[in-house]
Amino acid sequence: MNYHIEEMISAKEIQERITELANRINVDYVGKELHVISILKGSVFFACELLKQITVPVTMDFMQVSSYGNNMVSNGEITVLKDLDEEISGKDILIIEDIIDTGNTLYHLRKLLLTRNPQSLKIITLLDKTDCRTVEIVPDYCGFQIPDKFVVGFGLDYAQKHRNLPYIGAIIQD
Ligand code: IMP
Ligand code: MG
Repeated sequence: MNYHIEEMISAKEIQERITELANRINVDYVGKELHVISILKGSVFFACELLKQITVPVTMDFMQVSSYGNNMVSNGEITVLKDLDEEISGKDILIIEDIIDTGNTLYHLRKLLLTRNPQSLKIITLLDKTDCRTVEIVPDYCGFQIPDKFVVGFGLDYAQKHRNLPYIGAIIQD
């Protein structure tokens, strides 16, 4: 497929929004310790930028899951490709995701993590395609609501490419 990438959210807009989100989290978690779970690989860029602005004590773990189906569509249950290194029982957990599309990934992941008895469990996503939701998942913090377009950059990939773009862009078929 021949395609080009059209900028949708600039690097500056992303940074400004991340600062706003970090400020809110710093207020919401004052007096607590935050244990974040960054969902590999897409959320890593977002997680790093966000955590640099968090002022409450924070620890970090990673998890990798895959939803059934091909690259552009997801459905069904998730498979855990890499589980957490640390236990989450009794901890205040914040899942960091790059994008919520159908909601399937987070729906199943949230259900799984709740069985491990965290003290609390919240979700932050950089991007949310609210129009595409097939199951109910509402993030506690969201960077940007975007239309139903396939986007790349700032950690998000198309066939593993373009994660390194400093902005978010839409894939446009030529
Ligand atoms: P969901 O389970 O349908 O919510 O899909 C979430 C996952 O699909 C994300 O964590 C991404 O890995 C991937 N995904 C969904 N939409 C996009 C997109 O526009 N660009 C890149 N990855 C996407
Ligand atoms: Mg993902």
